[in-house]
Amino acid sequence: MVKIGVVNVSDRASRGVYEDIPGQEAVRLLREYLVTEFEPVYRVIPDEQDQIEAVLKEMADQNGCCLIVTTGGTGPAPRDVTPEATGAVCEKMLPGFGEAMRNESLKIVPTAILSRQTAGTRGSCLIVNLPGKPKAIGECLEVIFPAIPYCIDLVGGPRLEGNREVISVFRPKTG
Ligand code: MTE
Repeated sequence: MVKIGVVNVSDRASRGVYEDIPGQEAVRLLREYLVTEFEPVYRVIPDEQDQIEAVLKEMADQNGCCLIVTTGGTGPAPRDVTPEATGAVCEKMLPGFGEAMRNESLKIVPTAILSRQTAGTRGSCLIVNLPGKPKAIGECLEVIFPAIPYCIDLVGGPRLEGNREVISVFRPKTG
């Protein structure tokens, strides 16, 4: 069974002050976009870099997730450290993901420029940062999702099939 990690990075959600809406929204969208069945590996953790790194490593190395999406902690506030944790655990960074999300998001909201969201690979797992607002999660995932299955092919993960009625996944033709 394909496994996909969803990590809601939020001090308040991890203390139970807020309901975990961002994590639920990420799972809902992934289920809508993918026809491939997957098991979500789900965590809500505070904005602590060492904890974020530990969860990302566990999901990629022990749980065998082929994709991990994080929500939140990408902005400029002192406690926002999700991109730093992502950079620390990835072997290769894929800055195009963050660039594309910011580009498209800037057409919607000027403060999209404040998000430092990035992506990278660890072994055969792709890790992608999304912002924390539920609306922003959809706006960003829609932009990058078409490139995600092919990226996972390239790093040796399982073949993910998109739901053609909802979103088009792009795989370059070979040969
Ligand atoms: N991107 C989109 N598409 N839509 C948004 O509403 N909000 C921005 C930005 N990116 C936003 C967005 C705001 S206000 C901030 S502060 C940053 O994401 C960082 O959010 P985070 O700290 O929750 O990750």
